[in-house]
Amino acid sequence: MNPFAPGSGVKPPELVGRQGEIDAFDLLVARAKSNTVGDRGMILSGLRGVGKTVLLNVFADQARRNDWLVIQLEAQPGDAGRGATRAKLARELEVGARRLRGTPVWSYLKDVMASIGNVTASLGVTGVSASVSTKNGRADSGKLDIDIEELVEDVSLAMKKARSGFGLFIDEMQDLDEELLTALLSVQHLAGQRGWPFYLIGAGLPNLPGKVSEARTYGERLFLYRTIGQLNPDAAAEALTVPINRLGASTTDQALSMLLAAADGYPFFLQTYGRAAWDAAPGKVIDEDDARLAISYGTIDLDHGFFEARWQRATPGERRYLRAMARDGDGPSSTGEVAARLEKPTNKLAVVRSRLIAKGVVYAPEYGSIQFTVPGMAGFIARQTED
Ligand SMILES: Nc1ncnc2c1ncn2[C@@H]1O[C@H](COP(=O)(O)OP(=O)(O)OP(=O)(O)O)[C@@H](O)[C@H]1O
Ligand SMILES: [Mg+2]
Repeated sequence: MNPFAPGSGVKPPELVGRQGEIDAFDLLVARAKSNTVGDRGMILSGLRGVGKTVLLNVFADQARRNDWLVIQLEAQPGDAGRGATRAKLARELEVGARRLRGTPVWSYLKDVMASIGNVTASLGVTGVSASVSTKNGRADSGKLDIDIEELVEDVSLAMKKARSGFGLFIDEMQDLDEELLTALLSVQHLAGQRGWPFYLIGAGLPNLPGKVSEARTYGERLFLYRTIGQLNPDAAAEALTVPINRLGASTTDQALSMLLAAADGYPFFLQTYGRAAWDAAPGKVIDEDDARLAISYGTIDLDHGFFEARWQRATPGERRYLRAMARDGDGPSSTGEVAARLEKPTNKLAVVRSRLIAKGVVYAPEYGSIQFTVPGMAGFIARQTED
């Protein structure tokens, strides 16, 4: 019965406050349909739990409804992640293409299935394409950048004839390995110049835009960048009241403002406190007492889930680093200052820092500074009495 849905990438009962992004993506789909050339992809960036994955899924569904070839994957960090991401890309290419069988798009796409078969080899994946024929000459050089370019060209031109699009949706894109990232950026660049309906739609932490422009100087111009953050007060209120009212219940004004203050506009927190409030209320009206109880239970849930998951993955040395950062609240902190607090030279801590970045707990908003990716992490750390 409880309508709320705290959880990574879980569709909320009411998706609020993101109409601007949804409209921007709808426009992109419409432009692909009318063969308007020279469009850009889109990049969503923001802290943990703000709703990037949910939005990316909404975009991908919208693209699928319009018969796009849709490929969705989540980048993973490190060497193991590199292989896994490529394997996923190859598999998704095949699955995404097969999904279009029986649609009008298929008559164009079937001619380029060989390129799809070939590129899987270039991605270091063998055996997945037993069902797809391969043909010499396209996307089979074994060089990732060339093969991806040929693949995107072949597929995009087919999709263009079909007045459709080719969308590559990448979550946690800050973790994409450099080689694949630069290859994809180059091909997005080319697509813009040549009028191919190929769109890279990425989501990731706040450092993602920086990573993109570091990889390719023209990266800045390739995308429409949207920062995904806290919901404004009206939207946050709707995120709670709409699902509650829909089930014939309500909140008092006082209870609502208490819950809103606790959640601070963060979607994940709204879902968590909303769920706790629903459970706490014995009747159809959520009042002040229910809200108070919900906030304490909701905070316990967050501590044991959202925050603890990150804290548990940190080693004792990494936790000391996080504690030193937490003295600045949610930050950012100067890396020099953190080192001084730990009485160590900054360069000695570089390894700790980069391990924490790889674990997705912190990110570098700019050179020489460091910040939590998780809103409220500093408060959580302050509540931890043991190391
Ligand atoms: N616009 C929204 N309105 C209400 N709830 C939302 C909205 N967007 C996301 N949520 C809820 O917030 C939670 C987090 O969403 P999501 O997993 O998409 O965040 P994220 O930014 O991808 O986080 P992470 O960086 O940890 O992957 C989910 O429980 C989801 O239902
Ligand atoms: Mg996510």
